[in-house]
Amino acid sequence: MILLADVHKVYRAGEVAVSALAGVSLTVAPGEFVAVIGPSGCGKSTLLNLVAGLDRPTRGTILVDGVDLTRSADGALSRLRRERIGIVFQFYNLLPHLTARENVALPLLLNGTPIPEIASRVGEELETVELLPRADHFPHELSGGEMQRVAIARALAPRPALLLADEPTGNLDSERGGAVLALLRRLNRARAFTVLLATHSAEAAAVADRVVRLRDGRLEAD
Ligand SMILES: Nc1ncnc2c1ncn2[C@@H]1O[C@H](COP(=O)(O)OP(=O)(O)OP(=O)(O)O)[C@@H](O)[C@H]1O
Ligand SMILES: [Mg+2]
Repeated sequence: MILLADVHKVYRAGEVAVSALAGVSLTVAPGEFVAVIGPSGCGKSTLLNLVAGLDRPTRGTILVDGVDLTRSADGALSRLRRERIGIVFQFYNLLPHLTARENVALPLLLNGTPIPEIASRVGEELETVELLPRADHFPHELSGGEMQRVAIARALAPRPALLLADEPTGNLDSERGGAVLALLRRLNRARAFTVLLATHSAEAAAVADRVVRLRDGRLEAD
C-alpha cells in the first residue's frame, strides 16, 4: 500500500535548512496498522504529509496504492487523496459552520458520490462511530472525543484504502483516546483499510500491528 525508498525532506525557511527526513525507506502492506513513534520534531508529521501527497519529498520515491506520488501532477494527487486516502488530525479540522452530518457529507459531495447515496452513507458512518444522535450538532456542540469520531467518520465515508492519522488522540484524555484507538482498530479489521498513525502515546502504539521508530529523520527501529 505504501512504499518509501530513500526519502529525504529538507525544509528551507530563508537561510535555514532543516533536514526533517534523512533517508527513510519503508513498506506497509495492505491492511496493516502501523504506528510511527518518536520524539517531537523527529519527522512524523512530515512523513504523513508526504504519504498524503500534501507535500513533496526533496529526494526519493513514494508510492501509495500503486501511484508514484513523486511523478504525479498536483491534480492527480488531489484525486488520490479524495478517493483513496482518509486523513485524521490532532485538532479534528472539522468545518465549524457545518453540522456533524454536513462535515461527513462534504468529501462525498466533492468526490461525486450520487446525492441519494450520500444521505445513507453519512447515516451509516455516523452510526458506526455511534454519533447518529449528534448528527445535527455543530462542532462546538460536541466533546473532543465526539469531534474526533466525526472526523473519523468523515475520513472513512469515501471508503479510503489508506487512513493517515496524525496524533488522533493527542488532544483527548486517556479514556476518550483509548475509545478512539479501539474504534480505529476495529474498523481497520472490519474493513481492511491500511492505517499509518503518528503518535507519542504508548497506548496508541500498543494497538498497532507494527511500530516504527523515527529519530532525527531516520528510521531507528521497525
Ligand atoms: N514547514 C516547515 N518549515 C520548516 N521546518 C519545518 C516545517 N515543518 C516541520 N519542520 C521541521 O521539521 C522537523 C520535523 O517536524 P515534524 O512536524 O515532522 O515533527 P513531528 O515528529 O511530527 O513532531 P511532533 O511530535 O512535535 O508533532 C522539525 O525540526 C520541524 O521544526
Ligand atoms: Mg507532528
